[in-house]
Amino acid sequence: MRRGRILATLGGAVILVVLGVAASQFNHKALQEPNAIETYVATKIKRWLVSRLARESLPPEPPAAAISIANGRMQYGGSCATCHGQDGVTPTPLGNALYPPTPSLASQQVQKYSNRELFVVIKYGIRNTGMAGFAHIHSDEEIWYLVHYVRSLGEPSD
Ligand code: HEC
Repeated sequence: MRRGRILATLGGAVILVVLGVAASQFNHKALQEPNAIETYVATKIKRWLVSRLARESLPPEPPAAAISIANGRMQYGGSCATCHGQDGVTPTPLGNALYPPTPSLASQQVQKYSNRELFVVIKYGIRNTGMAGFAHIHSDEEIWYLVHYVRSLGEPSD
C-alpha cells in the first residue's frame, strides 16, 4: 500500500520533470528550423487531415490541358509568388522566414499529394502556418487551374 503510494508519487514527479523540460524547449520564435519530431508529428497529422477532406465531394475537375496550366500560372503570379517564388521552386526570403518555411512546389513532399488533396490545400489553407486558404480569393475553377500549374512544376520539362 505504502510502496504503491511512493511509486505513484515518484511517477508523478518524473512526468512533471519531463513536461517541464519539454515546456522549457518551447518558444514562440519563428527563426529556427522546426525540429525533426515536431515536423514528423505535424506532417503526419496534416497529411491525414488533408486526405480526409479530399475524400469529401469536390467540384468537378476540368481536364488538365495546357490552357488550364497557363491559366493557373497567371493566378499563381498574383497569389502565390510572394512566398513560393516566381518559379514556384525557389521560395522568397519572406517565404523562407515563415515557420514552417515555404516549400518548393516541385518537391516530393508537395508532389506526393493527389490533385484532390492539392485542391483542398489551396482552397482551405493549412491552419497555423503561412499557407492561406484561397476560397474567398479564387473560384473553384481557378483553384483547379492552380492545381494543374503546381502539378506541372513536378514534371520534368523537355
Ligand atoms: C504567405 C505565404 C504563402 C502564400 C501567399 C502561399 N503559400 Fe503555399 N505555403 C506556404 C507555407 C508556409 C507552406 C507550408 C505549410 C506547411 O508546412 O504545412 C505552404 C504550403 C503549400 C503547399 C503544400 C502543402 C504542404 O503540405 O506543405 C501547396 C500545394 C501550396 N502551398 C500552394 C500554394 C498556392 C497554389 C498558393 C497561391 C494560390 C500559395 N501556396 C500561396 C506559404 C504561402
